[in-house]
Amino acid sequence: MSERIVVIGSCNTDMVINMERLPLPGETIIGGNFFMNAGGKGANQAVAAARLGGNVSFMAKVGNDHFGSRSIEQYKAEGVNVEHITVDNDLPSGVALIMVDSHGENCIAVASGANALLSPADVERAKEMIEQGDIVLMQLETPMETVEYAAHLAHEKGKKVILNPAPAMSLSDALLGNLYMLIANETETEFLTGVKITDMESVCRAADVISDKGVKNVVITLGSKGAFVKENGTYHKVPAIKVKAVDATAAGDTFCGALCVALAERKGILEAVEFANKCASVTVTRMGAQSSLPYRAEIDKMK
Ligand code: RIB
Repeated sequence: MSERIVVIGSCNTDMVINMERLPLPGETIIGGNFFMNAGGKGANQAVAAARLGGNVSFMAKVGNDHFGSRSIEQYKAEGVNVEHITVDNDLPSGVALIMVDSHGENCIAVASGANALLSPADVERAKEMIEQGDIVLMQLETPMETVEYAAHLAHEKGKKVILNPAPAMSLSDALLGNLYMLIANETETEFLTGVKITDMESVCRAADVISDKGVKNVVITLGSKGAFVKENGTYHKVPAIKVKAVDATAAGDTFCGALCVALAERKGILEAVEFANKCASVTVTRMGAQSSLPYRAEIDKMK
């Protein structure tokens, strides 16, 4: 029986346009294709983990509108426990505007809406669910005080608290000290540590800055260069899987959700990162956020 994963985070509806290249400030570009898709870093991570076989509960806040109710129905259909997704009557559900270029690079603007109202009081109400969980996974599209409160509560109860610091923001020492693992990409790592990532030596140095703050394990994703792990003072590099990138949206979310599933199955950290790498490599070959998340059967078929 695998361990239980609790994801706390954001839920968005993504409005996506893919186009030849991203517009410059003030520029209009014609000729893209539009589609609407379920997104939000928290929701993407929860759905990714569920599709990969995880036992997942998702805590979030949506508006009292069509996007919110549609999202909840979709999570239920994915087998995610939605008991602690609350509906707010004041703000609309979160929306993200995403542009993707022909190389799969994106830029994203988020209107947080109800995500911004997910509060420590909501965490308190979900205390029992958190206590019954084993791994708590969070990102930074919901208020920092909520992330900090949940991390403190979960750490005190002996849960493995995993933070994906996306989008990048300063983190308190108290929060870092409650983390079992931090999973950051290059940009987030540079922001958090002040170390410019240029080579393996700089990656190790950046990981040291993070682990010196009390984070037990550090995972740094390096895009087409693979991933890096610092586990119990030992450094490892996990090679990238070469694929033709169509859209990088939710690749990081897939990585985080997949890593939690592997840990929940009691795999070692290195093996978990290899699994996560594989899963994320599938996501970048497809368009969109939740539309691109892989299923376990597809991953098991890969070499
Ligand atoms: O990580 C990708 C996600 O970031 C998108 O789905 C969008 O909603 C933003 O939250």
